[in-house]
Amino acid sequence: MDLVLDNLTKEFGEFVAVDHINITMTSGVYGLLGVNGAGKTTLMRMLCTLLKPTDGNIYCSGKDIFKMEEEYRNLLGYLPQDFGFYPEFTVKDYLLYIAAIKGIRPAVARKRTKELIAKVGLTKAADKKLKKLSGGMKRRAGIAQAMINNPQILILDEPTAGLDPNERIRFRNLISELSEERMVLLSTHIVSDIEYIANEILMMKDGAIINQGTLDKIIDSMPERVWTCSVRPQEVSAITKRYKVSNMKSEHGGVDLRIISAEKPYESAVFACSSDA
Ligand SMILES: Nc1ncnc2c1ncn2[C@@H]1O[C@H](COP(=O)(O)OP(=O)(O)OP(=O)(O)O)[C@@H](O)[C@H]1O
Ligand SMILES: [Mg+2]
Repeated sequence: MDLVLDNLTKEFGEFVAVDHINITMTSGVYGLLGVNGAGKTTLMRMLCTLLKPTDGNIYCSGKDIFKMEEEYRNLLGYLPQDFGFYPEFTVKDYLLYIAAIKGIRPAVARKRTKELIAKVGLTKAADKKLKKLSGGMKRRAGIAQAMINNPQILILDEPTAGLDPNERIRFRNLISELSEERMVLLSTHIVSDIEYIANEILMMKDGAIINQGTLDKIIDSMPERVWTCSVRPQEVSAITKRYKVSNMKSEHGGVDLRIISAEKPYESAVFACSSDA
């Protein structure tokens, strides 16, 4: 199975939110990386047929997704960026409800709901109301609802928003597990969320895919990169003499730095983003 985006474009009046994108996606994890307003959600909403392109097409194994209807919806799971919740529903009832909307038979839905709740680590919270869950638990319930029909294409819009570092790690493991034999496209503006799990990174800026490939390939192709690292206060002055430091913040007795440099400026520095992306 593949998804081909052919000259995909979305304009809102004069404004071009998605600008003539041509990419092909197969199985594996694709990380859609871009700052606020880059066009990630607009692109994803078109991939979910919720928004019609102004120009261009999307083909799933050669078929126009806007003509496939039910056939495409059966292949698709989607976690929207601002996903609506039913605060009074328990996790279990919420998933059964989504399964019913998707036309899954009750016996299958019950089995699937149980399996998915276990998979996303919510077994103990299965009978808790959604309004009582933490942000991370809600996201996991959101991922479970996107998985209810065992989709071949899983689209997750900023699934890590608001998660703490531990939740992020758990989330990365979950996505790796879910990505076996399916296509996962997830958006984020945090490189470390996708650094280890994305087979391919799509860097989006002003509606266009400006770079594409493995993280190493992307890093190699950039003249200047932004790095983040945490250093001891006494090391700061040597670093600022040598490198361009764009941001500095004292944190837990150390100092968090954002450094613009072609090379890795410090042993523990991690690549953050292109300086102009
Ligand atoms: N319905 C709309 N009408 C007009 N402009 C829109 C509409 N939807 C999105 N836009 C504009 O398109 C651009 C891309 O928005 P989009 O939500 O796709 O970005 P994003 O990359 O998902 O950003 P974020 O990281 O903040 O979620 C923004 O400038 C936004 O204001
Ligand atoms: Mg968005």
